Amino acid sequence: MQFEDRLTETARRIEGELQRLLSGEKVAEAPVQLVQAMRHAVLGGGKRLRPFLVLESAALFDVPTDRALPAALAVELIHGYSLVHDDLPAMDNDTMRRGRPTVWTEYNEWTAILAGDALQALAFEFLADCASGLPPAVSVALTVELSRASGVNGMVGGQALDLEADKLGRPENPDAGHVSRLQAMKTGALIRFSCEAGAIIATADPTTRTALSEFGRHLGYAFQIADDLLDAEGDEQRVGKALAKDAAAGKATLVSLLGLEAAKAELRNTVENAKAALLPFGAKAKTLVSAAEFVAYRDN
Ligand code: IPE
Ligand code: IPE
Ligand code: MG
Ligand code: MG
Ligand code: MG
Repeated sequence: MQFEDRLTETARRIEGELQRLLSGEKVAEAPVQLVQAMRHAVLGGGKRLRPFLVLESAALFDVPTDRALPAALAVELIHGYSLVHDDLPAMDNDTMRRGRPTVWTEYNEWTAILAGDALQALAFEFLADCASGLPPAVSVALTVELSRASGVNGMVGGQALDLEADKLGRPENPDAGHVSRLQAMKTGALIRFSCEAGAIIATADPTTRTALSEFGRHLGYAFQIADDLLDAEGDEQRVGKALAKDAAAGKATLVSLLGLEAAKAELRNTVENAKAALLPFGAKAKTLVSAAEFVAYRDN
């Protein structure tokens, strides 16, 4: 199967599973508007790249999809929450996401804040719940790693650095080291977790796990450079969100720092580093190699 068909098929599966989760018993007694906002946030769009990486990294070890699904859904719920908060007026102040109004625009700010909070809690509940069929030690390891990837040294910490540059002009002259640290945290950490998850679920040896983690590190970096390039020169209809915002907002990105051409060169270089990290897996890693190309050269 071609890479894009495989990604589409996974996206469809993830959509169905999230649909089930967000209409099932876990939300049955919850306030109606809150649940509607959570559904708006995570259903009906998105590339589902992070769950795809979880499932494909698990497939390297012949782990059945069902066993990898809890981690795949959990990381997508965290991603969904991060976007709901990222779009808030206090943060990036965006009104369009995935070609639809953002959650705060459709509902209101407090509903968006609470929907994000609830998605985050749901992600961890779902992952840590041993009823999901994983051995307890694996559930705990995934929960710990996803917490790390989401928190102060991961996504949330990266968002703080991003907004410090944007709102406070701090640091005054961010260098490439600062920008790559910011990106590794804000976007890289969840992508890295997604790639490492397969090795955790398969209880792979440390060297193998490190190889996947390194792949995820490069892939996360490539992902954010591509996002920043799309902001600078993407097609707004295709991407489904307002573009040309980073420069205006004073975001610290490689594009603002190095210019378009140097950022593209860095991207090409990063894709090669990502692929090199997969060499130990040989032909089995074919889909993940394609994922690196897709992440870097996508148009949405
Ligand atoms: C966008 O992520 C936000 C960033 C982390 C840069 P994606 O491009 O994966 O968004 P969706 O899920 O496909 O909409
Ligand atoms: C957001 O980065 C990363 C998150 C942790 C949500 P961006 O602010 O660049 O993402 P977009 O461009 O709004 O999707
Ligand atoms: Mg942002
Ligand atoms: Mg944003
Ligand atoms: Mg962006």
